[in-house]
Amino acid sequence: MNILPLIVFLFFNYISCDNCTDCLAKNEVFCFSQAKCGWLFCQAWTDKSLNCPDVRENIAEYNETFVKDIMLVTSTAAAAEDPQKCFDNALPSMKLINKYEVQCSDLAKCVAYLSIDHSYSAINLAFRGTQGDVQLIEQALNYVKGNREFFKNGKVFNYFLEAFIYLWVGGLEEDLIPTLRKYPDYQVWINGYSLGGAIASVSAAYLVKIGLINPQNVRLVTFGQPRTGDYEFVTWIDTHLPYTFRIVNQRDPVPQLPPKIGLVQLFHFRTEIWYTSATKYETCQQADGPFCSASQLFLNWSDHLVYFSRNIGKWAKSNCTL
Ligand SMILES: *[C@@H]1O[C@H](CO)[C@@H](O)[C@H](O)[C@H]1NC(C)=O
Ligand SMILES: *[C@@H]1O[C@H](CO)[C@@H](O)[C@H](O)[C@H]1NC(C)=O
Ligand SMILES: *[C@@H]1O[C@H](CO)[C@@H](O)[C@H](O)[C@H]1NC(C)=O
Repeated sequence: MNILPLIVFLFFNYISCDNCTDCLAKNEVFCFSQAKCGWLFCQAWTDKSLNCPDVRENIAEYNETFVKDIMLVTSTAAAAEDPQKCFDNALPSMKLINKYEVQCSDLAKCVAYLSIDHSYSAINLAFRGTQGDVQLIEQALNYVKGNREFFKNGKVFNYFLEAFIYLWVGGLEEDLIPTLRKYPDYQVWINGYSLGGAIASVSAAYLVKIGLINPQNVRLVTFGQPRTGDYEFVTWIDTHLPYTFRIVNQRDPVPQLPPKIGLVQLFHFRTEIWYTSATKYETCQQADGPFCSASQLFLNWSDHLVYFSRNIGKWAKSNCTL
């Protein structure tokens, strides 16, 4: 009997890799360590296609210069008393259109601003995050109160959608619509730090969903963003917005919040850029698996306060003085 074909078959079966997307389509799980379908002898597997290590289609390339020199400034400016002063020091070509401040709840104010940069052909929309710890705690409590439908595309955290709606009717709409009409080909940068990143994500999804902004023009960048919606919602973001980056600094605990357990399975969208030090980063293939920042057992609040070696709160207070 000739066993050569069998050996060849076994050999190729051994070295060949399965395709994660195909595994899930067959209702199997994909095993990371063996790059095979099935969980037998497997230590880490996924049943979520956003965690497939397949290359995301039409993925935008991460540009650290853009994120560090521009997005970090625009996100920080949202916490500055006068965003324009922040631009004057760190991004002089950016011009403030208007700032919006609404009472989001009994305890917290929500803040956003709209600006424009003709040298980059970009409209910029940034959201402020935490106003002290009160807001963070309140948000955690609100989570118990629940989630809201994002159209027919999953659920988002009530708090973030409401924050956007209050700002929208509180003046943002009146300024954004004519600006988009006047500069239809401009990029639309949407960004924020901490809770501001979560509001930015829901806002970007909303503005694209209602057809106001061409998704190809959107650049969504967030820093230290908490989980914002369920798996269906982040899948919608992942398939509709080609340019989305979540920057996570080292062992920042906020991106691990709220935890994935619970009635509504919260999830992150791609692409996480995980900084393992102030200057080194990894581009994560999985949206929200036990990899990158989520692989860290010990978390450190200090890592939430500092991004790219800048203490965001202090930097905002100093009007982004270089
Ligand atoms: C996996 O299969 C899907 C669909 O069959 C395909 O679109 C994708 O490119 C494949 N990925 C890899 C890494 O081969
Ligand atoms: C990265 O972003 C900077 C600032 O926007 C820009 O000047 C540069 O051309 C970009 N680099 C690439 C490779 O796109
Ligand atoms: C947390 O991070 C800060 C700043 O990087 C560092 O000084 C501190 O030692 C860290 N704490 C722990 C427990 O690792």
